[in-house]
Amino acid sequence: MAKKLGIVKEIHVGERRVACSPPTVAKLVKEGWEVLVETGAGAAASFPDTQYLSAGAEIAPAAADVWERADIVAKVRSPEAIPGDGHEADRIREGGAVVSFFFPAQNRETLERLKARKATVLAVDCIPRISRAQKVDALSSMANIAGYRAVVEAATRFGSFFTGQMTAAGKVPPAKVLIVGAGVAGLAAVAAARGLGAIVRAFDTRPQVREQVESLGGEFLEVKIQEDGEGGGGYAKEMSPAFIEAEMALFLAQAAEVNIVITTALIPGKPAPKLWTKEMVAAMKPGSVIVDLAAEQGGNCELTKPGEVVSAFGVTIIGYADMPSRMANVASDLYGTNLYHLLNEMGGAKGFKIDIGNDIVRGALIAHEGEITWPPPPPKKVEPEVKISREGEEPPAPAKTTEIVAAAPAPAVLVPALKPPTKEGGAIAAVVGLLVAAGWFVMRFAQPDLPVSPETSAFLQHFTVFILALFIGWQVVWNVTPALHTPLMSVTNAISGVIVVGGLLGGRGPVTTALLVAAFATLFATINIAGGFLVTRRMLAMFHK
Ligand code: NAI
Repeated sequence: MAKKLGIVKEIHVGERRVACSPPTVAKLVKEGWEVLVETGAGAAASFPDTQYLSAGAEIAPAAADVWERADIVAKVRSPEAIPGDGHEADRIREGGAVVSFFFPAQNRETLERLKARKATVLAVDCIPRISRAQKVDALSSMANIAGYRAVVEAATRFGSFFTGQMTAAGKVPPAKVLIVGAGVAGLAAVAAARGLGAIVRAFDTRPQVREQVESLGGEFLEVKIQEDGEGGGGYAKEMSPAFIEAEMALFLAQAAEVNIVITTALIPGKPAPKLWTKEMVAAMKPGSVIVDLAAEQGGNCELTKPGEVVSAFGVTIIGYADMPSRMANVASDLYGTNLYHLLNEMGGAKGFKIDIGNDIVRGALIAHEGEITWPPPPPKKVEPEVKISREGEEPPAPAKTTEIVAAAPAPAVLVPALKPPTKEGGAIAAVVGLLVAAGWFVMRFAQPDLPVSPETSAFLQHFTVFILALFIGWQVVWNVTPALHTPLMSVTNAISGVIVVGGLLGGRGPVTTALLVAAFATLFATINIAGGFLVTRRMLAMFHK
């Protein structure tokens, strides 16, 4: 029998998102799911019932109906108390399943209620941030929206332009934006603020995000103290007091300069670090705006009031904790797509099952068959590896072990790059080159009388040059940052121009094998040059708007 997926209207005050948009429902129905949607569930996200009907869903007259009939209920927020009418968790049918954001550490009571109903509970916020799980990473899709929206909120409260303007009445300088914490939300904020034309600076305790900030057009700020904030798996660790002191000194200096501050600093499982003090707010120019995305975890700014907009020293401080809900249409669509991939990961409508051998499912599973299964056993940790595949090639196969990758999408890695030659390969080339060169010199100078035919002599010379070229090429490529290997390779293809010249000069006279080889060399080198420039051009086009 087909599995029934239920979608109820969110009851959290102010929540406008819905667990699945009509296009996602259409995909689910096509794949064999029966979808039951509570009437009006998508209305606040601009998805009327009619769209769900056309997508193939059935509209249920009330939430109770969905909870009772669905095998799995999909929600955005975790089940919660229904004002004057019990609790959503008590409505789930015995042995039923629910999938939503849950935050079990802060939501123990609801988890106990669901356990009592022998429910299967899947918390999307507990899915490990492994490369295979990127398509189900709802935390990242929501944080991405939050970063963008933070800039939009700041722009609407800021009394000037983001981009510099040259008007008849004079010049207006561009706004200066500081992003604290360049994770998913922070990078989205860098991109959005740059898109509006502001000067953007960003700071993060993980130095490896520098490249990502710079590739989006931002400037990466640094403190003198060297300390890596990488705590494993792309998450941050708590920094030493000396580092935090240096960071705060940097922020105090920046406070007087910047117009907009967007704070997103977060250390998993800890309250948000207090990084923007009252003194810094006071140092800012009146009219400046702070958006504190970490408001729900206590805020990065000392003066933030979660869920509110307050003003202090003429500075507006925005502490909204519902940024994705403020863009409910796209947020519901992306969230629904994450759920769709999660359901497929679990076998889809036809083979739906709880496979605790699957890292993604095991991470998300927080209650099952009357047991609380959270927290899951810690995943096996391996060093993150940037896997790069050449355009047109199959992407690399997922790692067998749980492979933890950086949380933030890395725009710089959008550039498909060639794998650099291995160190061993280069070393072998160097040794062979040196041996051949040494052999040649021994032969020529130690035994000048040794008879050597002109052909052998020419061959040895060319071979030596060839091996040394390999060595130099290896050195050059190895020392260029991997993100730039594709443009480097494409442009260095142009060096094949030497072959074209050689082919044209050498390939004269009657038709001989040498002439044919020269003609082929000229043809292939020409393809190499043109192809190199085409690839470069195509790659640069990815950055054009
Ligand atoms: P993330 O974990 O990807 O990024 C957090 C970043 O903060 C990391 O790059 C980390 O290195 C950095 N960080 C930690 N300590 C720092 C310090 N002392 N100084 C500078 N940087 C530091 O998290 P993500 O997904 O980007 O979320 C960011 C924040 O936005 C979180 O607090 C999250 O809860 C919040 N959020 C807020 C929403 C809203 O509506 N207000 C919606 C979605 C997310």
